This record gives sequence, structure tokens and C-alpha cells, in this order.
Amino acid sequence: RLLVHVLGARPNFVKAAPVIDALRAAGADQVVIHTGQHYDERMSDIFFRDLGLPEPDVNLGVGSGGHAEQTAALMVGLDREFTERSPALVIVYGDVNSTIAAALVAAKLHIPVAHVEAGLRSFDMTMPEEVNRRLTDQLSELCFVTSPEAVGHLAAEGVAVDRVHFVGNPMIDTLLGNLGKFDTEAVRAAYGLPERYVLATMHRPANVDSPETAAALVNRLHGVADLADLVMPVHPRGRANLLAAGLADHPRVRILDPLGYIEFVAAVRGAAAVVTDSGGIQEETTVLGVPCLTVRPNTERPITITHGTNRLVTFDELVPATRKALESAGRTESRTPPLWDGHAGPRIAEVITTSLNRWEH
Ligand code: UD1
Repeated sequence: RLLVHVLGARPNFVKAAPVIDALRAAGADQVVIHTGQHYDERMSDIFFRDLGLPEPDVNLGVGSGGHAEQTAALMVGLDREFTERSPALVIVYGDVNSTIAAALVAAKLHIPVAHVEAGLRSFDMTMPEEVNRRLTDQLSELCFVTSPEAVGHLAAEGVAVDRVHFVGNPMIDTLLGNLGKFDTEAVRAAYGLPERYVLATMHRPANVDSPETAAALVNRLHGVADLADLVMPVHPRGRANLLAAGLADHPRVRILDPLGYIEFVAAVRGAAAVVTDSGGIQEETTVLGVPCLTVRPNTERPITITHGTNRLVTFDELVPATRKALESAGRTESRTPPLWDGHAGPRIAEVITTSLNRWEH
């Protein structure tokens, strides 16, 4: 009764760690397939080390490419692995291309799929992630939900209610489980960061893929840097466009290579405010109580706004909103969303074990 976890990109690693741990504790027979969607040492290996993830049993080495090319390569590699290993369940995470590729291949081989972080919706089909999320949920026998509104989204799309399990947020399991390791002073010393800084990350195609948009964004980021030192670990996607637009040409902008998990969250914890277009960082700042300005027209994680510290901003709103966040520093109110309590992994393991027993009989 083999369980196969499919991991491909940075956020997958953070979500899978507590699920793999809990299943190991339950005595499950499991295999980790790394698709190789992310492959740089600083996008992948460092996460496996920081999170104590088991060495992948296989790395498909798929790498980068256009959506069709990458998804096709993912599917061919995963089809071979699933056929050889005939798992009882394939477990996929989040909304990246590796997620939908694995779900689609498993469904065609009649292998049940479990989707961790199901039901999130931005209702913006121009985001590749929204396409991946919707389709993966349709193919999943087990939909593990991190936030109550996701249950309604799945019901509205006709997903049978007995497939849906509200279990909390495994990304927050990882955060809470590592709280003692996030040493802001150590990161400050290692990178020479000032006492007060804004931390920024940008990698959404809509923000960084076109040179014109990247230039408009850099202009606003310089406006933020006029208010406070701006520290920016740069994702490989968009690096060229952001640097070509002069991101580094401001005395108060500090460009860093991508950080590992522990150093990154330590840097978030010490930040006066965070500017981002990431999904997971909206959740992490909510739990850490750090003001978060999300440079996107929508979010699939509205609970980070209603309960947490998150706010959506347009390019034009970014500088004034940052000013306001800095003025209110230390006084940001945040309530932790329901079941973001560090026990999502064990809940997921429990549902998986019970479901496998039921399917056998
Ligand atoms: C992917 C996910 C996105 C997620 C992000 C987290 C999809 C559709 N998107 O976006 O949802 O938020 O991961 O990081 O799956 N590259 C490297 N080294 C690497 C990986 C990527 O240099 O290790 C560069 C390549 O130029 C590549 C580009 O980044 O073409 C984009 O990588 P890709 O995996 O296609 O998507 P991400 O933008 O990382």
C-alpha cells in the first residue's frame, strides 16, 4: 500500500514536510518523487535540508520550459513512475504545474489523488495556478482544505462533500514547528541588514514577465525604498527584467539571492512590512503578525485579509500603503485563522489512513 508524494516547486516542499512526517509516524510506506521543476540549489536542495525532508527517491529532472513543454515532460516522467510503482494514492500539493501534471496522470491510471490545499480560488483564470487548482480538485478523491471558504468553492464546482476535508494549513505546521529556528539577528548579521527594513519578493508572471510592467514595478519599489531600506531576495523568474529596469540602482535597495526557508522566514519575522505577490507569504505574515502588502488584483487567500495582516494593493497604492503600514508598525492586529494550529499534517495522515482502509474493503 504505497503512497507517492509528488513535489516540484519551492512552496510544495514547505507544505509536504509535515504531511510526510505525520505519515511516517503512522507507519506508512511512502515514496517522494521530485519532478525537478525547481532545480537550483537555492530553490530546492536548501529547502530539503532546512525542512528535514527525506532525500527524494527519484528526481525526474524535468526543469524549466513553456507550460505545454514543461507539463508534457512532467506527465511523461510521472506516468512511467506511477506505472512502475502502482501506488495506492498519489499526494499532490498546492497549484504548480507539477501538481496538475501528477493529478492528470494518476487519474488516467485510475490511481486516487489527494490534493493538499484544495479549493482556494482567485477566480482569475489568467493565473496558471488558478487553472491548475481547479482541474486538480476535479480529479481528486481527497480534497484537503486549509480555509473554510474553500469548502464552499468546491461545493459550487460540484465536488462531492464527502471528498472534502477541512484540516487546517500544513504550511503553518512547518512555520510553527520551526519557530525556534527563525533567528532574525543571525540573518541581519549574515546579510548586513539594517535594524528597520521592508522585505520584498516578486515573481508572478503578471508582475515580472514583461519589461514594461517590471519597469513600472521597479519605479514603485524605489518609492518604497525612499521610505525604508528595501531588502529583496530575487526569484530567478523576473530577475533579468527587474535588474534591467534598474532595481539595484537605488542606495537603499539590497538585492539578495533566493534565501532558504529558515533564513527567509527569519527575515520576514524581522521586517517592518512585507511587499509580495506570493501566495504562501500572505499566510506566513498573517501568523507572524507582520503587515503584508500583496501587489495583486486578487487573492485566493482572502482569510489573510479578513483575519490577518494582508492587504491587496495596486502599483499606485503600494507606496502610500507601505507608508501607512510603517506608521502602524507593531500595532497590526491579526487573528490566526481556524485550524492553523500546527496539526494539519496529523489530520491529513489520519484521513488518508482511514480512507485507504475503507477503499480496501
Ligand atoms: C512556480 C509556480 C508558482 C509558484 C512558484 C514558486 C507554476 C505554473 N508556477 O513558478 O505558482 O509560486 O513556482 O517559486 O508551476 N528557474 C530557475 N531555477 C529554478 C527554477 C526556475 O532559474 O530552480 C527559472 C527558469 O528561468 C524558469 C523560471 O524560473 O523558466 C520559471 O520557473 P517555473 O518553475 O516555470 O515557474 P515559477 O515562476 O518558479
